[in-house]
Amino acid sequence: MRIAHTIAEARAARADLPATCGFVPTMGFLHAGHRTLMDHARAECQSLAISIFVNPTQFGPGEDFERYPRDEVRDLAMCEAAGADLVFMPTVHEMYPAGATTTVTVGGITSVLEGAHRPGHFDGVATVVSKLFHIMQPDRAYFGQKDAQQLLVIRSMVRDLDMPVTIVACPTVREPDGLALSSRNVYLSPEERMQALSLSRGLRQTAAAFTEGVRNAPRLRGIVEREVAAQPLARIDYVSLADADMLAELDGEIVAPALLSMAVRFGRTRLIDNAVLTP
Ligand code: PAF
Repeated sequence: MRIAHTIAEARAARADLPATCGFVPTMGFLHAGHRTLMDHARAECQSLAISIFVNPTQFGPGEDFERYPRDEVRDLAMCEAAGADLVFMPTVHEMYPAGATTTVTVGGITSVLEGAHRPGHFDGVATVVSKLFHIMQPDRAYFGQKDAQQLLVIRSMVRDLDMPVTIVACPTVREPDGLALSSRNVYLSPEERMQALSLSRGLRQTAAAFTEGVRNAPRLRGIVEREVAAQPLARIDYVSLADADMLAELDGEIVAPALLSMAVRFGRTRLIDNAVLTP
């Protein structure tokens, strides 16, 4: 497994990798969700490249960039165990040297949900992912469905800018009790963690109602909203039931795949989760 710290090293190492090259971009502090992305890539591609970079441009002022969890040694051990051929771990200066002024902005779907609550977030994501694609030149890139809106944003960017990469979505990985895996889960106190289970519980309850035939969007949205709002420590940023492609909020009956998603704060920790309801 080669480790590259500079863009030049990454390009040189990438040139030696056989096609097809699978790529898993991450911000590190890797968990079983990342490992699933790596395993999918390893199984489907001839070579596996991973990036570990806590990208400052996708964090807003007052967000957790400085305290975002980091563990380089453990991350590299996981990459090695997953059979990675190349890990790119640049510094902030390497990715954003003084004078860098270009930003990639995806329109439309970035103005709602995460985009509305975290202004500039998706500019940071689209810019860094676009840079990483240019550096790593992957054939296939793997993203988790937990960041459902991010996935849509990246698909739009790849389509609109004619990037020659196939985007592969992998299902959300959960703890046995339902909590969606996230590097940020380490911030949760035991009490917050217990109450955070309301997110997956609410999603399951809504999915069950949907399976039983409930199709009214406000009614379905209300099920998960009530479950989460009942937790004394929960502060809801949003609960959304929107069409799964354009993220337009739904008010009537669900007749096409819909994305039920939410962002909820427990203390200083902001969690997101979602499920797709398909009629
Ligand atoms: O999902 C993430 O971990 C990040 O948003 C990504 C795609 C690695 C870009 O920094």
